[in-house]
Amino acid sequence: MSLTVFRKAHFNAAHRLFVKEWSDEKNRAFFGKCSNPNFHGHNYELEVGVMGELDPKTGYLIDLDFLKTIIKEEVEDPFDHKNLNVEVDEFKKINPTVENIAIVIWDKLRKRLDDKFDISVKLYETPRNFVVYTGK
Ligand code: NI
Repeated sequence: MSLTVFRKAHFNAAHRLFVKEWSDEKNRAFFGKCSNPNFHGHNYELEVGVMGELDPKTGYLIDLDFLKTIIKEEVEDPFDHKNLNVEVDEFKKINPTVENIAIVIWDKLRKRLDDKFDISVKLYETPRNFVVYTGK
């Protein structure tokens, strides 16, 4: 029996979206308020889905306490209350858009989870703007 278990998490973080080669004016025209040179924050809401087969003996797909722990270690501890551009290595070279943040989170969790699972990452940057990444 195949199903998906979800765990929700949350972090606050600051960012600035910009293309290094562009002028401040061009960045502002393209990225709008998210290109403020002095940074700004978002309340990110994360939903991690782990898809796999139910273990008929235990009734578990995955130990949710383990999932909680790896989300804390890979996402909440390194990202929460941080300036993503300045303090998080992954975003020193790539723009911390909600798309790229979701991909980085997926990559980090993929390394911690057994290959028998598929993973989905849903990341909300605002209550209305969110992305889903499944590794494809
Ligand atoms: Ni923003």
